[in-house]
Amino acid sequence: MGLTSPRKFAKSDPIVMAAKISSETASPLGGAESAAATAPVSAPGQTSQPAATAAPATAPLVFRPGLEGVPATQSAICDIDGSRGVLTYRGYPVNQLASHSTFLETAYLLIWGELPTIFQLRDFEQEVQMHRRVSFRIRDMMKCFPASGHPMDALQASAASLGLFYSRRALYDPQYITEAVVRLIAKIPTMVAAFQLIRKGQDPIQPRDDLAYSANFLYMLTEREPDPLAARIFDACLILHAEHSLNASTFSARVTASTLTDPYAVVASAVGTLAGPLHGGANEDVLDMLDEIGSVDQVEAWLDRAIAEKRKIMGFGHREYRVKDPRAVILQGLAEDLFLRFGHDSMYDVARRLEAVAAERLGPKGIFPNVDFYSGLVYRKLGIPRDLFTPIFAIARTAGWLAHWREQLGANRIYRPTQIYTGSLERPWLPLEGRPTPS
Ligand code: ACO
Repeated sequence: MGLTSPRKFAKSDPIVMAAKISSETASPLGGAESAAATAPVSAPGQTSQPAATAAPATAPLVFRPGLEGVPATQSAICDIDGSRGVLTYRGYPVNQLASHSTFLETAYLLIWGELPTIFQLRDFEQEVQMHRRVSFRIRDMMKCFPASGHPMDALQASAASLGLFYSRRALYDPQYITEAVVRLIAKIPTMVAAFQLIRKGQDPIQPRDDLAYSANFLYMLTEREPDPLAARIFDACLILHAEHSLNASTFSARVTASTLTDPYAVVASAVGTLAGPLHGGANEDVLDMLDEIGSVDQVEAWLDRAIAEKRKIMGFGHREYRVKDPRAVILQGLAEDLFLRFGHDSMYDVARRLEAVAAERLGPKGIFPNVDFYSGLVYRKLGIPRDLFTPIFAIARTAGWLAHWREQLGANRIYRPTQIYTGSLERPWLPLEGRPTPS
């Protein structure tokens, strides 16, 4: 995944299109939807065509690109105060969770709403541990994937394949929900680690029951038992990536969930959405960008050039934050802990210089480092290959997606937004010989 090419960036201001919607033009079945379709409006740069019948204006449709500021759900899972840089999961500040909790405890909190008691936590940990293995059929399927393919594509396909093995769909049975949650939290890391070994031509290794969640994942990935500090820091990274309200992949999960499909399809659709470079895929691109900059003395000139070329600076900017992402602050501290213990990384100096120079150039626009800016440096120090950064994000975010899946089922209505139609008015089909030649 390379840096995004220069483009004209969309303005965040809402574009108000004077769509004339009238209850008189709505069909009994379609309501506002069919009214919108019969009331064409002009898109920017497009010549408006006369409406077939004039309809009185009642309510203008407001188009907000990227749904900025449009509430698309009610949720009690996660809150972001973007001006103060505060992020809470079920009311608990994420920095406290990263310092004191474990990923599995945080996942329990997100999905079931409260911190578990010692017995609930032990049960959950045990259940997850018992379901870590994946069928040999899934491992064999992964052996047929091209080794050159991106691990996010392998993960999306593998997550979806779980629906073939666990096809019973009882969405309103609490036992079914618990089993699906446990399976997904348990098996996603195993599938990420399995693909890593398979693409190197090796057989995946089985999980180890004596290792906790994060230590076991690092073991399955590297075939070595990890240093306890490395495992603890990795676990804290999972906590920081576990949930972030209605981001693109979570929205995708909720839309998929709203159709009442199975939870494996819900997670698979979210994995596909997370993969893009504007979302979870940015962590990989940040290191490519730091490589491209090369050294501390190149930072200023590089940044000026990138801004002049209207390039996006990867790992910077966020729809919700106008200050530095609180997760970036914590991840930076975790990176420093790792460097103290395992040796410095000169790429960190480049990153810090970039943050300082960008604060002058982009800070006034409210653009600061986001979660992806320092996470890659942590994973690099842990020896994790670059293209596994986003799958690791997916391991963590599975907890958030499942929390939203449960919440969506609790008050479900299928997502079906409307649109502002900008195409041609109804027109007769033309025979081949009567069609105009394109200019
Ligand atoms: N570098 C340079 N300029 C930026 C950046 C950036 N990283 N982010 C936003 N801007 C500027 C845009 O150029 C635009 O300026 P303009 O109004 O003068 O044209 C303005 O800020 C608004 O930018 P949008 O792209 O419209 O903001 P939006 O809220 O839609 O996008 C996003 C948010 C996608 C995160 C954006 O900041 C971005 O592309 N960042 C880089 C990719 C990245 O790091 N993604 C990870 C996000 S965190 C996550 O998903 C886990």
